[in-house]
Amino acid sequence: MTRREGPAVWAAFLWPGGHHHGAWRLPGSTGADLMSFENYKQMALDCERGKFDVVFLGDRLDAWPLPTEYLARTARAARLETLTLTGALAAVTSRIGLVATASTTFSEPFNLARQIGSLDHISGGRIGWNVVTSYTDDQAHNYGLDHIPPRPDRYARAQEFLDVVKGLWDSFEDDAVIRDKDSGQFFHAEKFHPLDHQGRHFKVAGPLNMERPPQGYPVICQAGASKEGIAFAGRNGELLFSVNSSLDRARDYYQAVKKAAADAGRHPDEVKVLASINPVVGRTEEEAEEKYEQMQSLLDDDVSRTFAEVYFGIDLSAYPMDEPVPEIELPDAAHGMPRAHQEYMLTRARDRKLTMRELVYGFNGTNIYPKSAEAAADEFQEWYETEACDGFILQISHVPEGVTDFVDLVVPILRERGLIRADYTGRTLRENLGLAIPRNRHAA
Ligand SMILES: Cc1cc2nc3c(=O)[nH]c(=O)nc-3n(C[C@H](O)[C@H](O)[C@H](O)COP(=O)(O)O)c2cc1C
Repeated sequence: MTRREGPAVWAAFLWPGGHHHGAWRLPGSTGADLMSFENYKQMALDCERGKFDVVFLGDRLDAWPLPTEYLARTARAARLETLTLTGALAAVTSRIGLVATASTTFSEPFNLARQIGSLDHISGGRIGWNVVTSYTDDQAHNYGLDHIPPRPDRYARAQEFLDVVKGLWDSFEDDAVIRDKDSGQFFHAEKFHPLDHQGRHFKVAGPLNMERPPQGYPVICQAGASKEGIAFAGRNGELLFSVNSSLDRARDYYQAVKKAAADAGRHPDEVKVLASINPVVGRTEEEAEEKYEQMQSLLDDDVSRTFAEVYFGIDLSAYPMDEPVPEIELPDAAHGMPRAHQEYMLTRARDRKLTMRELVYGFNGTNIYPKSAEAAADEFQEWYETEACDGFILQISHVPEGVTDFVDLVVPILRERGLIRADYTGRTLRENLGLAIPRNRHAA
């Protein structure tokens, strides 16, 4: 196989408190201050110093689906809303892409078209939208529903939602606005289009009260892993987040998504697949191990088991913590939790013959590995060059140290190997990712 060359795509997934559930308790952690914009700002600037493509902000529309008794022993219950946060980050950064999360199940297309379009204008074209369909009843309870709608219904709504949003973003043709002070003509009336959409889920007249975003459409990001999710990703996704427990599985997912894109009539290069990795790096492997063990020591059995129970939708209390993980049957898809995460955890436990404690204490991300910077770079290179992914989404385990360590220790090695850019080549996120501006549907 010829190994490919050129830089990979790099995204930092910042979660307040860090991705590791124990990390907020580290002595140097700023993660305990969940509402601090200053923390986000410093981390985003660090990512920009490293020339990352993207800062990614996840979100959910509930506190966190954990009984309050256990939730109160974590840093998971509170966070800033990501569209708002992205607006503030856009003002203090200049080149890095910013991806915010918004749910198609619990919003209206006209609202999100305006909000995300505004962010694209404000940031000069650096925005991506992580399109999620949400997946727990707790989130439904905040929007007048007793249950989260079944996955096929959520994805059907998501498709129509996205079609409407894109239609709204096309309201003004690219050359519609002339601002001719002499003639008094602000825009060409015939280049401003209503939408007149009437579908199963939405009735939207349009036009959108906003000029077309600088990127045409902000970059569509997504992490579908189910059958419906992969089909949705193939049709719409441009930057995809994936979770796979091994190189082979990652390659299978990569092929599946690229095929779904081709089946939808798209060029496979229009879809960039990022592998989720939780790096814990040090100058040496011992230093990385020590950091990881320190975080693990800040977990406890009850909270860890409860995290796992909620994820799998089953009671695990009958299983002894020190015995190997038995065959566990997952409830059907109606439970709604991300199937890829569930399967990732169980497959990994079986492959590695983990005990129940090791399984539940592992609920701190995907592909966590304490590694020396050099060994981490080797592994990224292997995944990228053998086409298990087009880049990486780094789920930062502990903040802010996890960001600065990565930028200071790993990025220089990656740069020397040509795996991360020396500087930004484009002004917009699309330009940096090598994605074209989608054509306005009304363009002649
Ligand atoms: C890296 C990554 C980040 C994600 N971030 C969010 C998020 O912020 N909010 C959310 O509701 N879902 C998030 N998800 C879940 C996905 O949106 C999706 O529901 C999940 O991958 C399962 O796919 P499925 O819905 O096709 O089963 C994320 C998934 C991954 C892999």
